[in-house]
Amino acid sequence: MPNQPPKNLTIAATGASGAMFLRHLLLAVAADQRVETVNFIASDSALRVMAEELDLKGRSNLIAQILGSSGRGASRKFQIQANADIGANVASGSYPADAMIVMPCSVGTLARIANGVAAQLIERAADVSLKEKRPLVLCVRETPLNKIHIRNMYRAADAGATIFPLIPAFYYRPASLDEMAREFAYRVLAHLGLSQAQAFRWKD
Ligand SMILES: Cc1cc2nc3c(=O)[nH]c(=O)nc-3n(C[C@H](O)[C@H](O)[C@H](O)COP(=O)(O)O)c2cc1C
Repeated sequence: MPNQPPKNLTIAATGASGAMFLRHLLLAVAADQRVETVNFIASDSALRVMAEELDLKGRSNLIAQILGSSGRGASRKFQIQANADIGANVASGSYPADAMIVMPCSVGTLARIANGVAAQLIERAADVSLKEKRPLVLCVRETPLNKIHIRNMYRAADAGATIFPLIPAFYYRPASLDEMAREFAYRVLAHLGLSQAQAFRWKD
């Protein structure tokens, strides 16, 4: 993982369940002054799931809709990229992206990344992260897992990705779903060198 905290993040949302985790990830990076730029890409399926889980309505003001009232005014560092735009900045290794997180990561997106299918921007940006040896964190969510999913997780990990399943911890006794999702988002950020001061620490 990087020596310096990443300043330029790519965050992608795909059509797996877990929009609440994404929301807390975006809130944390919005508030983190070390993060200067976030290129955000959402697949069409991500929007479908977010409509169910966050009452999202369409793509307009997407970041504001996901962040909700607690993220008001925090969206200046976010740049939304269209998943269909394979000419967007993060499609090229020459663009100085520091790290990429796919949260949540569907097993469909996992399969495309693991097998080098780079037809849309999310998979292309992930492919670029791997070829440039930049951190790529895949927060895969599905249950139960079939052998194809397990093989694809192995393949992606073997190519350099971190498989960071959307599995929260319980030993700190989260008092709410929001607390659980927030702590999980903090763990992902800590993995990339962006430790959060408010995060729970075992035996602090
Ligand atoms: C409400 C809802 C929940 C879903 N949950 C999951 C899930 O947890 N994991 C998963 O891999 N796919 C899940 N899916 C299916 C994916 O959205 C679907 O396979 C989609 O094609 C993935 O597209 P994407 O990878 O381009 O985002 C869900 C779909 C819906 C509508």
